[in-house]
Amino acid sequence: MSHFLFNELPVISSQGKYILFSPYTREKIIIDNKDYFSEELCNEINLLSPDFFQRPKEIVNDYLDRYNLVLSLTNDCNLRCTYCFVNGGHIKSRMTEELIEERIEESFKFIQNQDISNFQLSFFGGEPTLCIDLIRHAINFVNKQKPEDIKVSYSITTNGAFGKQVSDFIIENNIAVSLSMDGLPEVQNLQRPFENGAGSAKSVEKTITRLIKNNIYPKIRVTVTKVNCFHMPQIVKYLGNLGVKEIHFEPVTESGRGTNTPRPSREDFVSMLFEAIDIASDNNMKILNSAYARLFTPSVHYCDGMGDKRKIINYDGSVSSCVEVNDLNHEAKDYFMVDDLTTETLVKNNPISDANDDCKVCFMKYNCAGGCPSRNYHVSGDIYKPDPYRCYVVKHVVPKIIERM
Ligand SMILES: C[S@@+](CC[C@H](N)C(=O)[O-])C[C@H]1O[C@@H](n2cnc3c(N)ncnc32)[C@H](O)[C@@H]1O
Ligand code: SF4
Ligand code: SF4
Repeated sequence: MSHFLFNELPVISSQGKYILFSPYTREKIIIDNKDYFSEELCNEINLLSPDFFQRPKEIVNDYLDRYNLVLSLTNDCNLRCTYCFVNGGHIKSRMTEELIEERIEESFKFIQNQDISNFQLSFFGGEPTLCIDLIRHAINFVNKQKPEDIKVSYSITTNGAFGKQVSDFIIENNIAVSLSMDGLPEVQNLQRPFENGAGSAKSVEKTITRLIKNNIYPKIRVTVTKVNCFHMPQIVKYLGNLGVKEIHFEPVTESGRGTNTPRPSREDFVSMLFEAIDIASDNNMKILNSAYARLFTPSVHYCDGMGDKRKIINYDGSVSSCVEVNDLNHEAKDYFMVDDLTTETLVKNNPISDANDDCKVCFMKYNCAGGCPSRNYHVSGDIYKPDPYRCYVVKHVVPKIIERM
């Protein structure tokens, strides 16, 4: 018997029984017989746990009182990762200081009208630390212009291939770090080399150790290919020994320079992910993956880039809803580019979770919501045709996670 959706919540079929799961209260109710799923059951549950059934929000960010402005400062990069979806290093242009000031000022105006009290400024690229002068400028500008009632936080997505000065800057400014590293040094050197071909593992290892010594715990983002898929459990041990607490595993997307980098088989990825989860839980570490990242924040759209609480400013001045669509040359630009900070994408009013016949009735409708529109586009040429690989991963990972809770 397969899993199904009941009153907007997932029901997992397991060993002849049914687990009805509420992401809102994090409660599970075990039901013996499929015939019991009725209005009567809803009424009974409502009496016992009034918050058990709720409506999903439209966008994940609606769970937060926060606006996120992402500055994709440059496409330039000191590494030449073999699979990079933005072709890092291909174009050298950088964002201007004037554009940064303009967009930050606009964001402050926008969030005050929306009654939002938290502003997160994120730095992305290419490699954002190549523009440390622009990051410094942006932070100084925010400190000068910030309205009194707005709380500010900073985050950066970086390759970690830099020296002590940049680490010190990150530590001084308390910037939350998502650091990309592909695990064991031999694979990191192979998949994420410097521009001149030299290995980057030593430099990145040093950065991780330095940050952790200073109480900045980077979340490590590992891109999983056929080469490192079977290393996932070892990667957890290796990074755990460096003091890392959180690892985010994501299979490679076949786009940009990664067009010819095949993903591991979906079965291998799922089985290695669970081995990694088991080792991590024995060592007080956390494993993240997009299949269950939104388990407790159900929503109609997959990501937070559809709405008006997150915008990406590209180095060429264009405004996008997706960090992967990072300039006007991108083939999927029509779906993701918007005119300014206030315009919404076309997909916002026509969500994949309602437009696609399979997603509409899927038990994972409000957890997966048809997946990442940009990745769907790369796989099928249509944002409304979900990537079958990801669909498989979600359907095979999330039920087990719910069963284990
Ligand atoms: C494009 S990079 C930009 C920021 C920074 N240079 C870095 O490497 O973290 C952002 C993230 O995308 C990941 N990435 C790049 N190409 C990818 C691909 N084809 N599939 C999956 N992830 C990819 C990188 O590993 C990194 O975690
Ligand atoms: S993934 Fe990041 S570090 Fe690697 S080439 Fe792309 S932008 Fe550079
Ligand atoms: S992509 Fe697959 S798992 Fe996701 S909502 Fe659609 S049918 Fe369900």
